[in-house]
Amino acid sequence: MEKIVIKGGVSLSGDVQVSGAKNSALPLLFAALLADGVGEISNVPDLRDINTAVKLLRELGAEVDLQGGCYKINTKKIQSVEAPYDLVKTMRASVLVLGPLLARFGHARVSLPGGCAIGARPINLHLKGLEALGAKIQLDHGYVEARAEKLRGAKISFDLPTVGGTENLLMAASLAEGETVLENAAREPEIVQLAQALNAMGAKITGAGTAIIRIQGVEKLTPLMCQVIPDRIEAGTFMIAAAITGGNVLVRGAVSEDQEALISKLTEAGAVITPEADGLRVVGPKKLAPVDIRTSVFPGFPTDMQAQFMALMTVADGTSRISETVFENRFMHVCELQRMGADIQIDGHSAIIRGAEQMTGAPVMATDLRASASLILAGLAAQNTTEVSRIYHLDRGYEKIEKKLAALGANIWREQE
Ligand code: UD1
Repeated sequence: MEKIVIKGGVSLSGDVQVSGAKNSALPLLFAALLADGVGEISNVPDLRDINTAVKLLRELGAEVDLQGGCYKINTKKIQSVEAPYDLVKTMRASVLVLGPLLARFGHARVSLPGGCAIGARPINLHLKGLEALGAKIQLDHGYVEARAEKLRGAKISFDLPTVGGTENLLMAASLAEGETVLENAAREPEIVQLAQALNAMGAKITGAGTAIIRIQGVEKLTPLMCQVIPDRIEAGTFMIAAAITGGNVLVRGAVSEDQEALISKLTEAGAVITPEADGLRVVGPKKLAPVDIRTSVFPGFPTDMQAQFMALMTVADGTSRISETVFENRFMHVCELQRMGADIQIDGHSAIIRGAEQMTGAPVMATDLRASASLILAGLAAQNTTEVSRIYHLDRGYEKIEKKLAALGANIWREQE
């Protein structure tokens, strides 16, 4: 197994390019299943989750080729509609094959993902939505079995705005008969990109990016052609890296409109953020001010940035409160940050952080994807050496993060445990 080693205390400077968004690339790869032909997706990041998605596509019978960062997906010979447990358990987003397979082949069998480190994360809203489109859904030996000769448009009001649920329904409804209206839909930029890509395939979707999305079903879609948007969570992580080290970093690919909540909170903490032609420049303050945050759905503060922001607050000059409202168990990084000297108390769904003058390096363990990033950020600001183990979590969602940080001057490298 590998670990990341960081010798903290360096102020980062320079510029860094953000990779393609994992959470956009995943639904797009699965959207290729909606058409019969060869789809192309460029700017796909090189990540473990992407490899899992490709494995799943191949398992279904798709031919997938990678040529210079561009994936070609041939969906002419799909012979299976089953997403097996082994793949779904390593990546929950595998459930996003449900909508496309059901819509195109009338049948899908997808393993139930079960719980994960950050909470129960059910898919009941995906299933309820597909049932509203006329699918018959059965649970059988841990698998969801969905069938529908032809999906029919319907009005679906989500109990809460689910990103994956909205994506599954967007894809399924694109090939349904008649109009579907999704109410209380998720509004994340990744939803907008998926809708744009589906429209380029011939779908008729309006309203993506708002809470009400209308989808006029079409008979057939043409193969997918798109370029993945930059990863706003990776961008946000580099923005915090600049802030926590008092650095000066141009984050190329960071988009102001997608980062409003983070920009506002980082500014409150004392960072100066300036838009430039192809990204955002972040200059960290000498001393960070404490800031309260409350995670929520887009455009609120992203839950995927909560752990990283907590690392920032461990070295702020005062007390801050971070409330997690999206996932019930997303404070696994707290114990590890405490091992580095952080003063954090959990109070229900909130964490109260009393900022310290400086954190101290320690051996720590990554527990999930964003928690890993949080520990690396803490390590950048800490005295002495921090060693982060179990970095397979990190490799699920950050492309060469240690190399990108090293290019900004950080003392960070990967080695065998
Ligand atoms: C996606 C992102 C993930 C991010 C999350 C919230 C991908 C691949 N992953 O995950 O990085 O943290 O959005 O921004 O894009 N829920 C239900 N029933 C459902 C579906 C969801 O109760 O059927 C609940 C979840 O347990 C959670 C909340 O809704 O509490 C939001 O989940 P959702 O938006 O669906 O997250 P994902 O799509 O799984």
